[in-house]
Amino acid sequence: MTIRHFLADDDLSPAEQREVLELAMTLRADRLARRPLEGRRDAPGAVAFITDKPTLRTQVSFAAAISDLGGYPLVVDGNLAQIGSRESIEDTARVLGRQVAAIAWRTYGQDHLETMAAHAGVPVVNALTDAFHPCQILADLTTIAQHRGGVAALPGTTFAFVGDAASNMGASYLLGGATAGLHVRVAAPEGFRPDPEILARAATIAEATGGSVTSVTEAADAVAGADVVATDTWVSMGDDAAGRDAATFGPYQVNAGLLGLAKPDAIVLHCLPAYRGKEITDDVLEGAQSVVWDEAENRLHAQKALLAWLLEEGTRG
Ligand code: NVA
Repeated sequence: MTIRHFLADDDLSPAEQREVLELAMTLRADRLARRPLEGRRDAPGAVAFITDKPTLRTQVSFAAAISDLGGYPLVVDGNLAQIGSRESIEDTARVLGRQVAAIAWRTYGQDHLETMAAHAGVPVVNALTDAFHPCQILADLTTIAQHRGGVAALPGTTFAFVGDAASNMGASYLLGGATAGLHVRVAAPEGFRPDPEILARAATIAEATGGSVTSVTEAADAVAGADVVATDTWVSMGDDAAGRDAATFGPYQVNAGLLGLAKPDAIVLHCLPAYRGKEITDDVLEGAQSVVWDEAENRLHAQKALLAWLLEEGTRG
C-alpha cells in the first residue's frame, strides 16, 4: 500500500493537485460527498491534528473537515505532547500511526515533519511549518477557481505576492502556484527575497505546467496587470520582529494605490490573521475585491479534499 504525504506543495503532481482542487470544488457544493473515515472497522477513524504553534483557522477547519469525512478529530496540544523532547519524533510517529488514520502537524522545522512522515505509516500533512504552508495554498487555489472560472481556468492566471517572500507563504505560493500553472510574481525587499533553491524548484515545475515564476524587488512590478494580489504578515510565527516594520515593508503594503495597478477585477487574498494598516489596509481587506472570507472557508473544503484524496490514494496502491 502506498502511503502519500503532503509535506510541501509539490508533493502533489500538477494532475494530482488538479484532482484535489476539483474535489474541493465538489465538496463546496456537497459537504458530505466523501466519507472515507465513516464506520471503519479495520483501520482507525480518528485523525490527529497536532499543533506546536498558535492556530485558529487551521485547527477549526481540520477538525470540521475530519468530522465531515466521518472521522473523529483528535486535537493535540503540542505543548503537552512535547514531541521531539519528551519522546522522540520517531517513537511518537510509530505510536500515533497505530491509533489514527492520518496526522496533520503544525510545527517549526520541516525536518521534524519529514521524520514524522518517515515513521508514521499513515499520511502526514503539513499544517504549517517555518518552511511551507501548503494547505493554505490549496485553499487559495480553490478560491481563485471559485472566483475566476473554475479549476480548468487556473493555468495562465497572473498571481502577485508582495511582502516576506522568504516566508512559508512565499515558498508555498511559488511551489503550489507553479504546480497549478500560474504566473507567480513575488516582490520583496532585500533580505526577504525567496530562497534561490525554492525559486529554482518552482521554475522547473513551471516549465512543465506552462506557468512561470518571477522574483522582483518593486511591488509595482509584481502587481501590474495581475489577476490575483496576495500578501501576508511581515512577522511570521517564530520570527524575530526586529527589522520587520514599515521602514522595510511599507512599500509592499497592499493598499488602494498598489491594487489599482492590478487588473480592475483582480481579487485580493490574505491567509489571515491580517494586521490592518501594516501589510494591508482596512479599505482593501474590507473592499469589493477582497475574497478573504471565501478563502478562509475554503480551508475546510480544500483540506477535506486533500485528506479524502490521501486516504483513498493509500487504498489504491
Ligand atoms: N506566515 C504566517 C502564516 C500564518 C497563517 C506565519 O507563519 O505566521
